[in-house]
Amino acid sequence: MTASPLDAEGTGFATLAIHAGQEPDPLTGAVVPPIYQTSTYKQDGIGGTRGGYEYSRTANPTRTALETCLAALENGARAFAFASGMAAEDCLIRTLCRPGDRVLLPGDAYGGTFRLFDKVMTAWGVEYEPVRQTDLAAVAQAAARQRPRLIWAETPTNPLLALVDIRALAALAHEHGALLVVDNTFASPYLQRPLDLGADIVVHSTTKYLGGHSDVVGGAIVIKDPRYAADLAFLQNATGAVAGPFDAWLTLRGIKTLAVRMDRHCSNAARVAQALREHPAVASVLYPGLPGHPGHDIAKSQMRDFGGMVSFRLAAGEEQAVEVCARTELFTLGESLGGVESLIEHPARMTHASAAGSPLEVPSDLVRLSVGIEDPADLLADLERALG
Ligand SMILES: Cc1ncc(COP(=O)(O)O)c(C=O)c1O
Repeated sequence: MTASPLDAEGTGFATLAIHAGQEPDPLTGAVVPPIYQTSTYKQDGIGGTRGGYEYSRTANPTRTALETCLAALENGARAFAFASGMAAEDCLIRTLCRPGDRVLLPGDAYGGTFRLFDKVMTAWGVEYEPVRQTDLAAVAQAAARQRPRLIWAETPTNPLLALVDIRALAALAHEHGALLVVDNTFASPYLQRPLDLGADIVVHSTTKYLGGHSDVVGGAIVIKDPRYAADLAFLQNATGAVAGPFDAWLTLRGIKTLAVRMDRHCSNAARVAQALREHPAVASVLYPGLPGHPGHDIAKSQMRDFGGMVSFRLAAGEEQAVEVCARTELFTLGESLGGVESLIEHPARMTHASAAGSPLEVPSDLVRLSVGIEDPADLLADLERALG
């Protein structure tokens, strides 16, 4: 990984997104990092690798470019890119936890994260306890009781868009000898940098805002303390769920426009949230940008803006929620989020179905929107039509 003058403190986010790890190709001057679609590399005599590249599971220059860029955007020491967000989470947990270790999870963790702990990690002796992290006293009590290895946080949470105070949670984690992991997928590093707020590790589903175009699945780990780098690199290589070169390239291509896309996601979401709040069919709107949201002040203190995700509850309950999801046309019914196109979904029956019957179950009258970057008037008209 070559040092770049862009790594210097003070370089703006949008500049880093376009240039960090992406210096023009030394061979041709190509301004876009090449897709090194190769599994192996010629050695100049045994062990004589060029830049350390010997096999693409271990390292690939296109992946290196992405990892360098992600580390710069999160202000971390190192980043590791994976085939999916879940692969990144799996590698992180198995690097840091051993049988008998315990993890505190958010009370409304992403369903896949919950499933990974509930159905996979427990079989290997890693226990978890879900705690509502908006209640710091409850987190402190659970930490004192469990002595967890990790406190795992999401903020804003998925799908209830609750806000967690990262600074306070980091202090609490460290007081109890735990590491704070923040899933920064919903905010993206443009809106929030957990490592600067005291967190130890960031994970991402780069499938979402970082990639930004719903055309690639990927994940990442970013660490503040380089001490964990060797163990993470070891397990990433040993288990091999790496981002392929084309996926790494697509993600980098998406990242270049992250700042401008996020600004538009945020302004569109604010307008959608306001319109929903005024609609009689809507019982409540969960959007951190609304002054009445319980996490509004925390959001202002740790985020640049309030994000592109909006959830709302229907006054008439579950059937109406399901009907609204079926009636929108521009808001496409589908899982995932963070792409340029708007999406709508019913978390209880879709993304969070795996949490049914658990303490992480989500309300059945809830609808989640990933507000895209289309013309806001068209998005508002679509919702108005669907709500009837
Ligand atoms: C907050 C959050 N974390 C992690 C993931 C998992 O990422 P992936 O789907 O890329 O494996 C998701 C996916 O929806 C997510 O929303």
